[in-house]
Amino acid sequence: MAKTYRMGVIGLGMGINMLPVNTRADIPIEVTHICGVSSQKDVMAGLKQKYALKNCTDDYLQLIEDPQVDIIGVFSPDPLHYEHAKAALEAGKHVICTKPMVVSLEQSKELVRLVDKTGVKFMVGQTMRYEAQFAAIRKMYDDGELGDLFLGEAHYVHDMRDLFIATPWRGDMPQDLIYGGLSHPVDALRWFFGDVEEVHAIGQETELLKSRSGKPYGDFSNYLVNLKFKNGVVARAMGLYGIVHPPMPMMGVSLYGTKGSAVAEFSDFLGGKVKAVFDKYEIKSAFESNYPPETEGAFGHGRTAIRYLENFGRCLIQDFEPQPSVREGAKTIATCSAAYESMKTGKIVKVFNEF
Ligand SMILES: NC(=O)c1ccc[n+]([C@@H]2O[C@H](COP(=O)([O-])OP(=O)(O)OC[C@H]3O[C@@H](n4cnc5c(N)ncnc54)[C@H](O)[C@@H]3O)[C@@H](O)[C@H]2O)c1
Repeated sequence: MAKTYRMGVIGLGMGINMLPVNTRADIPIEVTHICGVSSQKDVMAGLKQKYALKNCTDDYLQLIEDPQVDIIGVFSPDPLHYEHAKAALEAGKHVICTKPMVVSLEQSKELVRLVDKTGVKFMVGQTMRYEAQFAAIRKMYDDGELGDLFLGEAHYVHDMRDLFIATPWRGDMPQDLIYGGLSHPVDALRWFFGDVEEVHAIGQETELLKSRSGKPYGDFSNYLVNLKFKNGVVARAMGLYGIVHPPMPMMGVSLYGTKGSAVAEFSDFLGGKVKAVFDKYEIKSAFESNYPPETEGAFGHGRTAIRYLENFGRCLIQDFEPQPSVREGAKTIATCSAAYESMKTGKIVKVFNEF
């Protein structure tokens, strides 16, 4: 397949995972340009040689404005996503933006407006949708094996202290984990259940996260969120970051349906699992499948990133809307914003979905 689309990547941590797409002849996307910060000049020179890139820069506007680039990958620190994605959309480029899409409801509204105006393709790189385990329970549900879903749970639990050292922007900017963390389980639940009507949430600050980041982190570092969906499903999302990592999978989704229940589990660099019980069988013990660890690339998300690029390439060629789309991303951010308001006020908060 011809490499029809040239991509420029902003941000060289998670963003590095895009580069091996150049070796995949079946995906029409080639990374040709990268943008890091000025202290990464040597890293960029090495990547340029290894992946036969056309250009490297520390000026993101130069990359966005380059007429040779069709797609902008936004893999910069969370608080910069809005500025980078907005500039890319205003230049008429397609965008893949890592999670969280942005860090406020107002920013979400503006990106939706710009995508509608320009008609370009926009995808949020929510890795949970592209992990094999979560895709497996999605297929079980699509095939009707679980019946009608009425309840769900999802979590992303991560002792963030080491990440504050490896990626200092998380403490310095700082990263707001209401969006940067909680967007994972909220998007996973929205993937199955659609729009959220209202949320009730409680949050907690812990010294564990505060002390390592070197400055007060913010209001809360652990979140428990109850969600009521428009279709009547109720669910719980858990985001724990100021913790000593517990002996449990980093990410999980549990689905409860009229014909069966299923659980999928994922941890960075470790093997995962899918377990399911089907009501049609007399013996109600769980079927279990093990998934081998994926270890390539930053955070071990190398293959997942290539899976979402493969999907994005297909959407460009066949003119489909990539998922999660800018609207899906906006509704996830709106749900996280409503959860934050609920944590602050102690009240049940309606979620804004009118994008
Ligand atoms: N599962 C996932 O999808 C997943 C996993 C990890 C990170 N992420 C997201 O990827 C983004 C980048 O996170 P990361 O862990 O790769 O961080 P990182 O520090 O490793 O990389 C960030 C990159 O952004 C660039 N950058 C631009 N301006 C910068 C600035 N002012 N300070 C620091 N870096 C700057 C640099 O090239 C830097 O390498 C974040 O939005 C994060 O939430 C997503």
